[in-house]
Amino acid sequence: MQHVKTKIKEEVVEKVNPEEEVLFTSLRASKWDEFHGQKKIKEALKITIAAAKARKEAIEHILLYGPPGLGKTTLSHLIAKEMGSNIRVTSGPAIERAGDLASILTNLEKGDILFIDEIHRLNKVVEETLYPAMEDYALDIIIGKGPSARTLRLDLPQFTIIGATTRIGLLSAPLRDRFGVVHRLSFYNPIDLEGIIFVAAKKLKVNVDKKSIQEIAKRARGTPRIALKLLKRSRDFAQVKGKGEITKELTHEALDLLEVDSIGLDGSDKRFIKAIIEKHAGGPVGIETLSASISEDIGTIEEVIEPYLLQIGFLKRTNRGRIITKSAYEHLGKKFTADKAQQKLL
Ligand SMILES: Nc1ncnc2c1ncn2[C@@H]1O[C@H](COP(=O)(O)OP(=O)(O)OP(=O)(O)O)[C@@H](O)[C@H]1O
Ligand SMILES: [Mg+2]
Repeated sequence: MQHVKTKIKEEVVEKVNPEEEVLFTSLRASKWDEFHGQKKIKEALKITIAAAKARKEAIEHILLYGPPGLGKTTLSHLIAKEMGSNIRVTSGPAIERAGDLASILTNLEKGDILFIDEIHRLNKVVEETLYPAMEDYALDIIIGKGPSARTLRLDLPQFTIIGATTRIGLLSAPLRDRFGVVHRLSFYNPIDLEGIIFVAAKKLKVNVDKKSIQEIAKRARGTPRIALKLLKRSRDFAQVKGKGEITKELTHEALDLLEVDSIGLDGSDKRFIKAIIEKHAGGPVGIETLSASISEDIGTIEEVIEPYLLQIGFLKRTNRGRIITKSAYEHLGKKFTADKAQQKLL
């Protein structure tokens, strides 16, 4: 069957050569060895890649999910590099019409990787166009209108979709099922974060002592992106207030100024916890009510604030709503006052 190429809309997709990508973000891990932690996922992916290479096939479609800043995008680029494939980058909301998707797909070459960020935001029509493309490497195009309309099936080259999302719950089951490989990225332990900070400090050519690295790791909410941000802010601080070298004292000062506390909670985490304690007697409280009382949208609460608080056991989700645990009260220096009904839920 004929392989048709259509003109691609520039803003929908950017073609990124794996090597060029290194220049985009100087701190992005560009080698497997620089990608710390997530050991199981790395091992599983290495096997997936090696097997595909041995069979000379494209790798299966991969779905990566988890909270922001844990390395989904980075990992996708590493996979492309390891496969020696070109990666094209787009996102759910950027593909507005089925035609946009068709032009992206028909321009792919064998073995290419299409990275779709925020894949939960694909609209229904585009999503349905994607199904046969993922399953059979085929695209069904409707030509004409009314009674004379007919469907033309175009063959596509073997390609791989890597989808990334922070909200797996919003992905439809049929789409989720079409990914042969699904990995959930989890929060990093402090040791892995220390490794990430160490490598980044080297790249930034800044001296930082071990104690400062440990301090930053401890306050990074288990998230590499936050660790790197805190490192950069500490570096600024060291340049202006110190002698350019990041010391523990300067790190403390910088992080306190950023209102990042000893375990990494920031202003919005605290506002969230305090709102439940002070305005809703510790919970349970429904997400909509909570969203209104702290003027924060539900997406941000579910995506950014809650995952870490759940992970460290400060928050519980029950079918009656969110409820704050004893350790969160203790951390904020507040008296734990749960009544019998609340105790039952905890
Ligand atoms: N395991 C890791 N080792 C080293 N650096 C990492 C690791 N994971 C993430 N990083 C760094 O953290 C930053 C954020 O990572 P990335 O952009 O890949 O996250 P993400 O999961 O795609 O986030 P989002 O959901 O917001 O798109 C990048 O600068 C990346 O290099
Ligand atoms: Mg990303």
